Parts: sequence; C-alpha cells; structure tokens
Amino acid sequence: MIDEKLMTPRQIVAELDKYIIGQKDAKKNVAIALRNRWRRMHVKTDMQKEIVPNNILMIGATGVGKTEIARRLAKIADAPFTKVEASKFTEVGYVGRDVESMVRDLVGQAVNMVQKAKKEEVKEKAKQVVEDIILDALIPPVKSGKISNTSQNAVTSTDQMSDAELNERTRDRFREKIRSGEIDDRKIEISVQKSASSGMGMIGGGMDEASMINLQDMIQNMMPKKAKKRKVTIGEAKEILLDEESAKLIDMDEVKEEAIQKAENTGIVFIDEVDKIAGGSSKKGGGGPDVSREGVQRDLLPIVEGSAVNTKHGVIKTDHILFIAAGAFHVAKPSDLIPELQGRFPIRVELDNLTEADFYQILKEPKNALTKQYEALMMSEEVALEYTDESLYEIARMAFHINEEVENIGARRLHTVMSRLLNDILFDIPEEIPPNAKVLVTKEMVNEKLDGLVQSKDLSEFIL
Ligand SMILES: Nc1ncnc2c1ncn2[C@@H]1O[C@H](COP(=O)(O)OP(=O)(O)OP(=O)(O)O)[C@@H](O)[C@H]1O
Ligand SMILES: [Mg+2]
Repeated sequence: MIDEKLMTPRQIVAELDKYIIGQKDAKKNVAIALRNRWRRMHVKTDMQKEIVPNNILMIGATGVGKTEIARRLAKIADAPFTKVEASKFTEVGYVGRDVESMVRDLVGQAVNMVQKAKKEEVKEKAKQVVEDIILDALIPPVKSGKISNTSQNAVTSTDQMSDAELNERTRDRFREKIRSGEIDDRKIEISVQKSASSGMGMIGGGMDEASMINLQDMIQNMMPKKAKKRKVTIGEAKEILLDEESAKLIDMDEVKEEAIQKAENTGIVFIDEVDKIAGGSSKKGGGGPDVSREGVQRDLLPIVEGSAVNTKHGVIKTDHILFIAAGAFHVAKPSDLIPELQGRFPIRVELDNLTEADFYQILKEPKNALTKQYEALMMSEEVALEYTDESLYEIARMAFHINEEVENIGARRLHTVMSRLLNDILFDIPEEIPPNAKVLVTKEMVNEKLDGLVQSKDLSEFIL
C-alpha cells in the first residue's frame, strides 16, 4: 500500500541537507509532518477525524532558512506550493486580498503542474502535428484530386513522377530538416491563437475577490478566440505551436480534477510573517489595526482547520493541506496569536541563528551554493572561477561581523558581500578578462575589496 515515491522522514531530511545547513530541528519536524499527513490519510475513518493536522509554526530570525526549508520540502514532495505573507491579507469584507486567495493560488499552482506533466505526455504526438503545420506553410500539399488523375497513367520512373509523389518526397526531405533544426532560422507565416484580451477594468462594488475572478474568467471564455497571422522563424514556430497543439490534446477537465486532488492531498501553504498579525502591540494601547489583524487570524481558522474553498477550477477541501507558518516573533510572541490559531499550529520549531561556521558551510556546500552560482555565471563566458579555502573563511567572517555590527539579516548577508566582492570581475568579463582565463579568489583579494567597508560602520551600512 505504501507509495513507492513516498519518502521516509530520514530520507526527506537527507534531501534537505543537500541545500540547507544546520536547522536540524526544523528539518526533522517538517519531514515528520509530511509523512504524518500521509499516515493520517490512511488511518481508519473514525480516528482520522480525531487527529489534528501537523501544521507547523517556525520561529526564527530573518535569513536563517525558514522559507528555504518550506520551498525545498515542496520540491522534494513534488507538491504544489504557495507562499503568502500574512501581513498582506485583510479581513473578509474589506478591500484587499482575502485569506482564501492562498488556497486559490495553490490550486492554480497545481493546475500548472498537472498541465505541464500532461503536456509532456502528449509531446511526441503534438510534435508530429506541429511538423505537419510547418510543412504545410513551407510546401502546401497537392490537392488530392490530381492524384487519382495521374495514377491512371501509372508512371513509374522517377523523372516522370506525379506531382503528388514529388510533393510528398519534398515534404519528407523538409520534414527531416525541420526535425534536425537545420532550417530553424527561416521565416514562415503561421496563425496563432490569440485569446481576447482581459483588458477590462475592475468590476467594482460589493463583490469579493473570488466571484470577481470567476466573472472575469467567464467573460473571457465567452469571447471568441481569434487566430492571428504572425511571421516567425521556424524555431519559434516550433515552440509556439507545440504549446498550442499539446494544449489541444489534453483534457482540461481532467487536468482540473487531478489538480484539485493533488492540491488537496499534497499541497503546502507557507504563511510568512504571521508575527505581524499577532496582536502584540495591543499592550502599547494600539487601537484600530489590531481589530483587523485579529480578523485575519479568525479568517485563517477555518482554512487551516479544514473547510471547502471555491476556486475557478472547482471546490477544494483544505483538510490535508500542510500549513507552515513562520515569523521572527521579535516583538510579538506566539502566545499573542489568538488561542484558536495557536492550537491549529501545534508544532513549534525554533530555528537557530547562523554562526560564522554555518556561513562558511553555506558558502561552500549546498548544491546551489552562492560560490557555485557565480562559478556557473562566469563559466558561461568560459572564465574559470576558483576560491581558496581561506578566502571562504574570510568571507564568512566578514559577513558575520557585518551582521553583528550593522543589522542581522542572516545568510542574506552573504549575497551582498559576494556581489560586492565579485562585481568588478563580472564587469571586466569579457574585455579585460577574456575567455579561458582563470580567476582565483584569495584571502588577500577579499581583504582588499572589503576590509575598508567592514572597518567603517557607516560605509558598511550603506554598501553591504
Ligand atoms: N541554513 C541555511 N543553509 C543554506 N542557505 C541558507 C540557510 N539559511 C538561509 N539561507 C539562504 O539565505 C537566503 C534567505 O533564506 P530564507 O529565505 O529561507 O530566509 P527566511 O528565514 O525565510 O527569512 P525571512 O524571515 O526574512 O523570510 C536564501 O537564499 C537561502 O538560500
Ligand atoms: Mg522568508
């Protein structure tokens, strides 16, 4: 019964380890939550209702990996994922985004994923159709009437071949050329579907976001789709037509149905900045805004607990969606959230502040490490970038120092430091630093480029 693709908590953590340094506790808990969702879905019915979903509250300073962990988790699970900021929501009934929009986004995401997968399945079939369309534009086929006419004469020798056969041969030759990409630069005229523009104004007054989207969608579907002639290269035509033709080959109702299921059973919603909607400031006597913040929290309750949400692709039940909330909680505390909402996020994980040693590892180890990103950027111009180990320690030390002195922005500091360090080199490629050159980043270079900035608090505040 156990799904082959389903990873065990240990395997999930091992996968997360490839991208995120440290934060063992958070990794472990998200891994358990992911597996528990599956376990809960397979519990015998009565008990199932008793088990509350394992929604998680991540607590940690900025730039320590909260979003990154959730995003990677979704990738690992091949799950629809959406990230929202709690502070952007407004209470139902007020102008702005209502909380249900996060579920609509999630379904939209799932539709994209399923659609992409289905398109991939019909790709080969669609490619054939596309070749035919391009061929027709290049060498229009001979009218079938002629074939019966000439075939009566039964000409067999090649130089007296019928028009139809000749035509067929030429088409075959060109089919090869289209396939090999040999004539990708040649221009042809194709007609492409152009959906009627949605350039209509907002429909105002007394309508919530959901019904507004539905209405716009309905109107758009009623508008006739216009075909438009366009001159494009064959290379471009292949892409445009492949997209169009594979879309024709898939059944959108099936896509929607599958997408809803996927979102219901595997979706992950990441709610960032929940501390911003906690009513912590009420102690300072803040009046108005708190009421609305609490309203947003109340609106969140049914969604997180499990309810049905109407989307343009269908109704989705939110019972098994995994919600991960996150916040720094510097000012407000988790206990400042309304008790009901606290109860919906039973798992608390605190993320550690990153150390200098973590920074060194973050620079070096993750599959997508910054150092590797810059290497790849420069390699695209055939410049080989390398770093001495000492230089990485120095970058880590400086980043950590600036975080302490100026403001702690976590691992994001590495981005600013690295960009400062390598900017001149990026500017000098390819004129001053030509292809096949080698650039070695040394500790001395790091010091030379950054020391002045790091020494002066004012400077680093502005520049790093
Ligand atoms: N522990 C870590 N290991 C590897 N990279 C990290 C780690 N923490 C942060 N990063 C990197 O730092 C950047 C910011 O991280 P992330 O977006 O996860 O921060 P956050 O904790 O969500 O912060 P915020 O509270 O501001 O949203 C990302 O590019 C991420 O790759
Ligand atoms: Mg974040």
